Amino acid sequence: MSWKTLDDLDLAGKVVLTRVDINVPVQDGRVSDDTRITRIVPTVRDILAKGGKPVLVAHFDRPKGKVVPEMTLRVTLPALEAALGQPVTFAREDFKPAVAAMMPGEVMLLENIRFFPGEEQNDPAFAQDLADLADVYCNDAFSAAHRAHASTEGVAHLLPSCAGRLMEAELRALDAALGQPARPVVAIVGGAKVSTKLELLSHLTRKVDMLVIGGGMANTFLAAQGHDVGRSLCEHDLADTARAILAEASAAGCEIILPSDVIAATEFAAGAEHATVAADAVPGDRMILDAGPDTIARIITAFEGAKTLIWNGPLGAFEITPFDHATLTTARAAGRLTQDGRLVSVAGGGDTVAALNQAQVTDQFTYISTAGGAFLEWMEGKTLPGVAALEQGN
Ligand code: 3PG
Repeated sequence: MSWKTLDDLDLAGKVVLTRVDINVPVQDGRVSDDTRITRIVPTVRDILAKGGKPVLVAHFDRPKGKVVPEMTLRVTLPALEAALGQPVTFAREDFKPAVAAMMPGEVMLLENIRFFPGEEQNDPAFAQDLADLADVYCNDAFSAAHRAHASTEGVAHLLPSCAGRLMEAELRALDAALGQPARPVVAIVGGAKVSTKLELLSHLTRKVDMLVIGGGMANTFLAAQGHDVGRSLCEHDLADTARAILAEASAAGCEIILPSDVIAATEFAAGAEHATVAADAVPGDRMILDAGPDTIARIITAFEGAKTLIWNGPLGAFEITPFDHATLTTARAAGRLTQDGRLVSVAGGGDTVAALNQAQVTDQFTYISTAGGAFLEWMEGKTLPGVAALEQGN
């Protein structure tokens, strides 16, 4: 890891263009989950403490290069001010004079950078406009680092650049989980569909020692092994692909853990009638909504034998009770082992964070990433343009 941090650059009196990801959920005009906002606070505070002037640049939603009034970043201002404990100046347009007039101690937020077509096109002229606003570039948006946009990639080549505190923490945690992990490494990949995680599964078979496949995507593997999965969510057309992944795993010496027993329900609804059945004995009129007790025990045994855990995706229909049981029980076991110093546990992805919040173990894991797509691409072994640009340095 060869990027600079805020400690490596002199920030006194300098304008620090700080890429943050405050693409947060909003309901009825208010931020409904401020996790991403609170996570950027250390970076902003450190820039201020070093005498810098933070100019926050961020996107909100996908306006596709046009001004979409409902996608204004102004909506995040109250939550941002509350998290920072100070006022934040909002610059709607004409950024240059606004930045030039900043006072020491002031924090500025620029309007949704995706209102400008040059952002997503990574237009060199637009990147230069951004660079012209500032003296230093700080990227604290790991969760947007899979995008090669002007504010995440282009501008990094034009200014002295560094990683912010959140980016630093994220990269160190991810390196500990898959870069240079303590072995054995166990990975959990869950979620609804195999089709969205093919590259991930294939990459992980070559990187980890044990791979737990859970959630709806496990059904596709069970069906590929010749089991009847009844009315379960299943991508039958991916049977060959699933078998190829199992063969890759076997060739690489990666143990695959699939459900040996499941919770089969009559319908996808909270409290639906259900029974525990063997994975090869699912009644034709039922659907698999969770992993069963034997599977849970095998997963926990895998955790106990591992030194590192990396987790993406729930093991069952965790959003409806009682089909959250496998996800919550295994998450709590991972939390306990982490607290006992026996496991390094790293998790990421939208649904995963929601599931771990539900299990109330977010404080017990070693690191929980707020990144969605970026976490997945990083787990797939891809180079993230935003990180690569920092590594190339300036
Ligand atoms: C996210 O929410 O995962 C990031 O903010 C990236 O958003 P995007 O998928 O619209 O680029």
